[in-house]
Amino acid sequence: MTDALLLETREDDKTAAWWRQAAVYQIYPRSFADANGDGLGDIPGILSRVDYLADLGIDAVWLSPFYPSELADGGYDVADYRNVDPRLGTLDDFDAMVEALHARGIRVVVDIVPNHTSDQHEWFQEALAAGRGSAARERYIFREGEGPDGSEPPADWVSTFGGPAWHRVADGQWYFHHFATEQPDLNWDNPEVRADFVETLRFWSDRGVDGFRIDVAHMLTKDFAEKLPTSAELDLIPKDGNHPLIDRDDVHEIYAEWRQVFNSYDPPRTAVAEAWVAADRVPKYASPDSLGQSFNFDLLEADFDAPEFRRIVTENLALAATSGSSSTWVLSNHDVVRHATRYGIPVAQDSDAPTRHGGQWLLDGGDESVLDREKGARRATAATLFLLGLPGSTYLYQGEELGLHEVAAIPAEDRQDPTFFRTGGDEIGRDGCRVPLPWSADGDSFGFGSAGAHLPQPAWFADYAADAEASDPSSTLSLYREALRLRHPLQTGETLEWIETGRADVLRFARPNGWQVVTNFGAEAFDLGADAADVVLSSRALEGSVLPGEATAWIAPAGLLG
Ligand code: NOJ
Repeated sequence: MTDALLLETREDDKTAAWWRQAAVYQIYPRSFADANGDGLGDIPGILSRVDYLADLGIDAVWLSPFYPSELADGGYDVADYRNVDPRLGTLDDFDAMVEALHARGIRVVVDIVPNHTSDQHEWFQEALAAGRGSAARERYIFREGEGPDGSEPPADWVSTFGGPAWHRVADGQWYFHHFATEQPDLNWDNPEVRADFVETLRFWSDRGVDGFRIDVAHMLTKDFAEKLPTSAELDLIPKDGNHPLIDRDDVHEIYAEWRQVFNSYDPPRTAVAEAWVAADRVPKYASPDSLGQSFNFDLLEADFDAPEFRRIVTENLALAATSGSSSTWVLSNHDVVRHATRYGIPVAQDSDAPTRHGGQWLLDGGDESVLDREKGARRATAATLFLLGLPGSTYLYQGEELGLHEVAAIPAEDRQDPTFFRTGGDEIGRDGCRVPLPWSADGDSFGFGSAGAHLPQPAWFADYAADAEASDPSSTLSLYREALRLRHPLQTGETLEWIETGRADVLRFARPNGWQVVTNFGAEAFDLGADAADVVLSSRALEGSVLPGEATAWIAPAGLLG
């Protein structure tokens, strides 16, 4: 790393590069805090908790969609990109929230969902009414069906959420949807679609939003031949930039245009791609001509395993360097089983990702007898401190700072996730990580609101209440607060050096200024020797100079913290 980059990194907080090593906290607005007592979290609810966010010590919040939506996919079915869902508040409420967060030095990132709209979006309603051949249908992907009367879908493709990916409308045409039926894909070949999203980006940037998280950023552009491949044929097409549906090189033409928009603001607006693509394809999204940063989900998909963590970190730092971006780290979000739970259940033996990472446990009914909550919690905090010590940005998901576990026991009639319904229950889905937060140990909906919660909260949520944890120095919340507080003065250049520990299950690395992180992935204690005197934080208390199993310690040589 050059001296110039080191210097720039230290100044990140104040400069346009604030995002490079930020701790970003994801808010799933409908489950965060409910101010108007309708069971759904809302923007005034977030406003009422800005001091909590400031005390937590994060650098930015990322808000999952808060736009008008029929909630066919938890808000990722957007009916109006330039408004707030009336159940969640108003644009004035949004402005007040941004102002309050900014006043506390917290930046605001919002989710943009450009691959598909809601079927309630005025464009789609217009397309349905206008009929085949109309300009309105050209904003989406409509096709005639197969078979003599067109009653067969244009292709046998399966949607990401299960079930068919083509849906027939009343006049006999079919439209394509990667996700739920209520989420028709937009036609990104249409200049009107492109222009409209530029307007949306400007709309929120003008309101003071600092950055954007781009939903399924690798899916927007498509190339449909006259005769569509079958699903089996589609699977065989390499994802090398020319696949008809996924990770096409031409998607970056869109982001190059967006980049001009981002850079027309001072400071430039930032963006992070949600792109589930092969590692060597990530730098394209993270390049400064494109979105600038991309999620890396490798640690989220990894077991709690030292060699695996080391390999992933090394690879991703090298990849980030090739694009000039910083790396991103994430263990939990609104789409996966919470990491405290993943780490507390036996690792499923099959290698199929959706079931392996807690999905099988959910399918088996979320058996409490195989969940070791304490072990999950120990490993989760050890892994989080490891991540927060890495160069780059860390994305945290609401509730993980409380040590929350996945909620498995949700009756079928209360479930909301379309994956549950579209797979006929073969996948349980993501509701269990979206249950509204417990703010207090008692009271209606554990302080979430005054009239229940839109997903049922279990009785054990009382043990994870924010108010109790806030006054308990040994709580997960106190650990997160201390880690995020210390991370600012400890932050340094974007590199690390591995230090051999003599143990395959213990990782140790040093950052350029001497800040060191030691994570013991094993059960056996690890002796830090004389360095124990410089430990400034640990996820489990040291016993003398010994770091217990499944724990992380931060070491800061004298003088580093002033
Ligand atoms: C990715 C989002 O994270 C997920 O929640 C959503 O269901 C899909 N994209 C479709 O928008």
